Amino acid sequence: MEFAARITGTGSAFPESRITNDDLAQKLTKLGVETNDTWIRERTGIRERRLSDVENPAEHNSSLGCEAAQKALEMAGKRPQDIDQIIYATCTPDTLLPSTACWLQHKIGASRAWAVDINAACTGFVYGLAIAEQFVRTGQAKTSLVVGGEVFSSILNWQDRDACILFGDGAGAAIVEQVPAKSSRRILSCHLHSDGNLWELLYIPAGGSNMEVTPERYSQHLHKIKMKGKDIFKTAVKTLEDFAVRALKQNQMTVDDLDWFVPHQANIRIIEAVAKRLHLPMEKVVINLDRYGNTSAATVPTALDEAVRDGRIKKGQTILFDAFGAGLTYGSILLRW
Ligand code: ACO
Repeated sequence: MEFAARITGTGSAFPESRITNDDLAQKLTKLGVETNDTWIRERTGIRERRLSDVENPAEHNSSLGCEAAQKALEMAGKRPQDIDQIIYATCTPDTLLPSTACWLQHKIGASRAWAVDINAACTGFVYGLAIAEQFVRTGQAKTSLVVGGEVFSSILNWQDRDACILFGDGAGAAIVEQVPAKSSRRILSCHLHSDGNLWELLYIPAGGSNMEVTPERYSQHLHKIKMKGKDIFKTAVKTLEDFAVRALKQNQMTVDDLDWFVPHQANIRIIEAVAKRLHLPMEKVVINLDRYGNTSAATVPTALDEAVRDGRIKKGQTILFDAFGAGLTYGSILLRW
């Protein structure tokens, strides 16, 4: 029997420490790296970001995910025991073993669930939601918890000013529930793709099974991200447009049918370029990167949560999620709220 899937609750959580561009510039100056608020604001749209204190267990990735999930459960009117599956999208897990999803399960007390991490970098939440939708739509799960959470600061080289100014930490969560197949309020379509040929645009050389972190590699920052920002920028603009168009076409819709566009929050100039190509007014775009930077898998669910909670997103509206990330990975999801 076929069903449909609907998001019935959202939540988000961020570390306490708020680092403005000026704070960051001061920190980097001490490392001999020059940057400033004007450059960061004008080139990226970011004003500040939140950074986790790794000494504080409450700010570990799974703890932020747990707080976001508790808020999402509350909105959905569900308990942890109602969760059938936990899909945790992250590329900065608490530990390699066990998964961050299992840490979250332990912390939240979702004793009935099975739990798994997925890594699609910044597209992670979109991938996770698409996976959850499959299980829910085919009747194999009734209630799914999808989290996008990162402590991205743990993989930043603070001497690489191209990259380190872009990212922040945080987590967003969604409860996905089974609804009748004919329900108008549901996930309407999912489009996913990846291009492994573009691995070199954003990767971490060491720390996986193919390259151990030795003292020498540590001093060379090989356990931190390496990014070709300009190349990602160009690819991102094209693929975000492409995946938005694919979603609209499949549902016989045009941009005018969209109430809200929730793109991955990497750089305001990427988002503005995509909106322009789609002829989509910026008033319909949900933005939170000015206050949180690029939180990778957490950008889409935290932006969504903010717009749901402040009343911008209303029942029956049509929303498009659109993301790209390391891999490279791409994906879009169209839904009716
Ligand atoms: N502060 C001050 N100056 C800087 C900084 C900085 N933080 N970074 C670079 N500059 C300088 C450069 O050295 C260069 O100087 P030059 O002209 O003297 O050579 C100048 O600013 C311009 O540099 P560009 O690299 O041309 O800057 P650009 O406008 O391309 O912006 C950026 C760089 C912000 C990285 C942009 O390319 C971008 O956002 N790319 C996308 C990155 C991205 O989205 N990554 C995440 C992927 S998603 C995931 O999976 C995590």
